[in-house]
Amino acid sequence: MHEAGRLTEAGAAALAAEALRHVAGGQVIGLGTGHAAAAFVHALGARVAAGLDVRGVPTSEATAALARGLGIKLVSPDDVEVVDVAIDGADEVDPRGDLIKGYGGALVREKVVAALARRFIVLVGADKLVPVLGTRGRLPVEVIPFAAIACRRWLEARGYPAELRVAGGAPVVTDNGNRILDCRVGPIADPRALDATIRALPGVVGTGLFVGLAPTVLMWDGARCRMLRPESPN
Ligand code: A5P
Repeated sequence: MHEAGRLTEAGAAALAAEALRHVAGGQVIGLGTGHAAAAFVHALGARVAAGLDVRGVPTSEATAALARGLGIKLVSPDDVEVVDVAIDGADEVDPRGDLIKGYGGALVREKVVAALARRFIVLVGADKLVPVLGTRGRLPVEVIPFAAIACRRWLEARGYPAELRVAGGAPVVTDNGNRILDCRVGPIADPRALDATIRALPGVVGTGLFVGLAPTVLMWDGARCRMLRPESPN
């Protein structure tokens, strides 16, 4: 398997430490989902144990459980008007800073928290950087259970064959009680347009395309953290 650029544990810890520099006492922090985000939650938990006072908005039940176990106070989007800074991983990052997320299935809550955030910081290994979104060949889409098969047919008719995500022989159920369709995609010429097209299908809750959010991207290049500046906003 091709391992080049994959985020190591040490790399994730270094990115998490760098991300912590953007966090201050009294803030509301968006807590992402996945390997890189979990490294950040661990680092934040250590700071909380040392006296830092923050509140976290978790993007998944898994992250909520992790954060709770580390003593981080949690709130929901109902409780806060804005999130000061949201920190999450990503599955693809293009040169504009647009993203594909959701390989871990938390895309809808992740997008809500990113949209609430004054600042959005993305932690990735070099393997996540792509010239064009879609390069890794997969776009997750969350759909309501009632429409899962209908959405799969509609996506296929539009040129995006999709698989219902399963685990252990059963459909994956998201934290919102929904299903995930993984669309087979190639390089996506217009991510914003594709996002709008898919979201227009009845039963679709959201896609893994994160367009125009202009995140700060912290990338571990195998030796050090680099902050990437998006080429131009989308
Ligand atoms: C979760 O739904 C995803 O969007 C993750 O943020 C993404 O898959 C990155 O996860 P890793 O840091 O585990 O690669």
